[in-house]
Amino acid sequence: MKLAVEQLAASYGNIEALHGISLSCEGGEMVAVIGSNGAGKSTALNCICGVVPASGGEVLLDGRDISDEPPHKIAAMGIAQVPEGRRVFPRLTVLENLEMGAYIVRDKNLFAERLEFVHALFPRLAERSRQNAGDLSGGEQQMLAIGRALMRNPKFLLLDEPSLGLAPVVVESIFDIIADLVRSSEVGIILVEQNAAIALSIASRGYVLENGRITLEAPAQELLRDDKVKAAYIGG
Ligand SMILES: Nc1ncnc2c1ncn2[C@@H]1O[C@H](COP(=O)(O)OP(=O)(O)OP(=O)(O)O)[C@@H](O)[C@H]1O
Ligand SMILES: [Mg+2]
Repeated sequence: MKLAVEQLAASYGNIEALHGISLSCEGGEMVAVIGSNGAGKSTALNCICGVVPASGGEVLLDGRDISDEPPHKIAAMGIAQVPEGRRVFPRLTVLENLEMGAYIVRDKNLFAERLEFVHALFPRLAERSRQNAGDLSGGEQQMLAIGRALMRNPKFLLLDEPSLGLAPVVVESIFDIIADLVRSSEVGIILVEQNAAIALSIASRGYVLENGRITLEAPAQELLRDDKVKAAYIGG
């Protein structure tokens, strides 16, 4: 499977936020998109999911343009987004949140299988099954948001700043799990992050997004050594 965007443009009113960006992700691969506040990272993911309409360009899933499809159809095609700020349902339990993620999984056995998979990935979610999601720690809520997206067995997972607001050790443990997931499955991950150091340390390739344009594209290890990337995104 391959997910690609080509010359993707998006606007809010008459302000263009994406000026024609191109990037791609294969199944079993993790690519990072790094960029500072307002660069257009969330807009790019929202465009891929159909939440923000593209004003130009294409979103290609295995070569087929899906940029005019509505969000629920894109979700059903196997593209799952974990939005910025997690957005779990705070008054529902952990298990109920996972059930919401699986709303298109009608088969009971398949549901049980996915739940087992998510619980194996994040044992903490199994322990906290009956607890309200709103009472979880920030890190646990991020695990729940990712777990919820994985309940549908997506082909591509779009992660919007999973590190936001979390302590470095928590970020590290979540990113270790994500890295394992990519190594052990066919899922492709587009990881959007302001935390360039950690994103590039687990991704295989990376893109730098600046003011709605991709300005650099390279293997992640190369970007980590790039002087401009270091100065702008890693702090020296
Ligand atoms: N709903 C909206 N209405 C109008 N402008 C918007 C909207 N959402 C985003 N923008 C603008 O589009 C640009 C890109 O925003 P976007 O949220 O995609 O950036 P980002 O890279 O995700 O930033 P952050 O790291 O802060 O999350 C910004 O200039 C922002 O102000
Ligand atoms: Mg954002």
